[in-house]
Amino acid sequence: MTITQQRDRSASDDRAHLSRLHQILSTGDRAAWTTAALALVAGEPDGGSRDVPGARRDRRVAARSVLDSLGIPSELLEGGSVDRHGVAAQAAAPLLQASAVLGSGAEVWLDQPDEAILAQGRASAQGAAAFAELGLPMLAGLADLLTTPGARMLDVGTGVAALAAGYAELFPELTVVGIDVLPRVLELAERLLESSPVGDRVVLRRQDVAELADDACFALAWLPAPFVPEAALRAGVPRVVRALVPGGWVTMGHGKLGDDPVDEALTRFKTVCYGGTPLNDEEAQRLLREAGLVDVTTVPTPPHAPAVTIGRRPTD
Ligand SMILES: C[S@@+](CC[C@H](N)C(=O)[O-])C[C@H]1O[C@@H](n2cnc3c(N)ncnc32)[C@H](O)[C@@H]1O
Repeated sequence: MTITQQRDRSASDDRAHLSRLHQILSTGDRAAWTTAALALVAGEPDGGSRDVPGARRDRRVAARSVLDSLGIPSELLEGGSVDRHGVAAQAAAPLLQASAVLGSGAEVWLDQPDEAILAQGRASAQGAAAFAELGLPMLAGLADLLTTPGARMLDVGTGVAALAAGYAELFPELTVVGIDVLPRVLELAERLLESSPVGDRVVLRRQDVAELADDACFALAWLPAPFVPEAALRAGVPRVVRALVPGGWVTMGHGKLGDDPVDEALTRFKTVCYGGTPLNDEEAQRLLREAGLVDVTTVPTPPHAPAVTIGRRPTD
């Protein structure tokens, strides 16, 4: 190739890269503001924007137009078929987390505003209903264990205990023990639980999963790998297994890796920002098998939900 040809080629590569860059900026702008509009409308108090003064009302009206233009009528969020506050939290969580990453450059969880932590908790609480509908039928014997009086569940990285409360609401015999390393989130959790009808069945502990010392007492343990640092996860998994009753189950959430290069890179980026452990299905299964669990498998989850790998403590 001549020097002129090389120069032309590199100019054409530059143009293609710049065009891609502008496409990403434009798609990102659109996605961020669309999600903000959704969070705003879904998060409106019942009664909508009628009583909200001036500029805030104008914003809500304009946000509704965005959703209308995308074919999402605001009535959809007002009917009973959608958990609209869950949707609002799910929409707000990535925006608030991304701005925490850009704002401080430090660890996401330590530097998030309260509303970001609450939004993430509210979004994760939807996992309890999904578990009951999709996961529970796959976990042999667990429905009986969870409905036995005195049943206990371990919620690792309990955050503001929204997920823990979700499980306690679904299973009236269940007490959920939520552990977390951050005093600030545990204070928020305590405040939320004070006004929760199931607050007396959620027990909070400031504890690192790597230091868990319970023995044979939990029917179910939830372990969110993307939020737990690798050293703590590797030290914690065998302790979680020891803390299960025989026949009890671990459900471990982890990012979906390997499906698509962009999704994989984004999942790894988010996990690094969360300070947690990226695991693909095989790595997750190995971690659970090496800790002595049986019936280890990665269960199918909806396209945008995290991967979940499960395993059972043997009964003998
Ligand atoms: C996404 S948040 C959990 C959200 C939670 N489900 C809720 O309802 O709020 C993940 C939590 O894991 C906690 N965490 C991280 N490492 C941990 C560890 N080694 N032991 C216990 N908790 C940990 C973090 O402090 C953070 O609060």
